[in-house]
Amino acid sequence: MAVLRATLELRRFDPQTDREARWELVEVTLPEGSTVLEALMHVQEHIDGSLAFRRSCRHGICGSCGMRINGCARLACNTQLTAAVEQARRMAAVRRLAGRGAPASADVAPAPVRVEPLGNMPVIKDLICDMSAFWAKLHAVRPWLQSLQEAPDPDRERLMTQDDWTTLAEGVLCLECGCCSSDCCSLEADEEFAGPAALVKAYRYVCDARDGQTHRRL
Ligand code: SF4
Ligand code: FES
Repeated sequence: MAVLRATLELRRFDPQTDREARWELVEVTLPEGSTVLEALMHVQEHIDGSLAFRRSCRHGICGSCGMRINGCARLACNTQLTAAVEQARRMAAVRRLAGRGAPASADVAPAPVRVEPLGNMPVIKDLICDMSAFWAKLHAVRPWLQSLQEAPDPDRERLMTQDDWTTLAEGVLCLECGCCSSDCCSLEADEEFAGPAALVKAYRYVCDARDGQTHRRL
């Protein structure tokens, strides 16, 4: 099986021993096709068991592995390591071009893949953030169905039409991963701003034809 060698540049912070965060370089060798999450799991299992990060499903469903990879918030389990290596190489080449002109090898030199915690949230340890404010804002839009009408039949679900479902379908897909809040400039400027995830959640219920509490959510 083909293998992939990569260097990860991990943002490390242990509140028990570190006064401030530091960067740590780690070399990994993994089967081609591995994700960034699998690279982190490899580090945790074979190199440094103290590396902390969240993950669960490993399939882009649970939303727990949100982190910044090469400066952009995304799901680690949904990011191919090969693609991250290539992106890091291109970003480094651009930095060199912008800095002091490009040496002949600038566009081929490898560069480490930067992995750091989500932004706009306090860091608990390494790649794990405190998402309390994120959850509080989601909760503030009262994210559950609140109909003003009696259920036609208390023993049955409240039905909706296919068109009604199409209107809110994309809002239902939110994984609550926090990636949008991480990279939201408005949230960075004003921490009282609800943030994109809470607005998506509000949209999901405001556009639900069965719901009747739009004014309270907004
Ligand atoms: S809306 Fe935000 S929290 Fe929801 S899936 Fe998209 S990036 Fe994640
Ligand atoms: S581990 Fe569940 S979305 Fe990545």
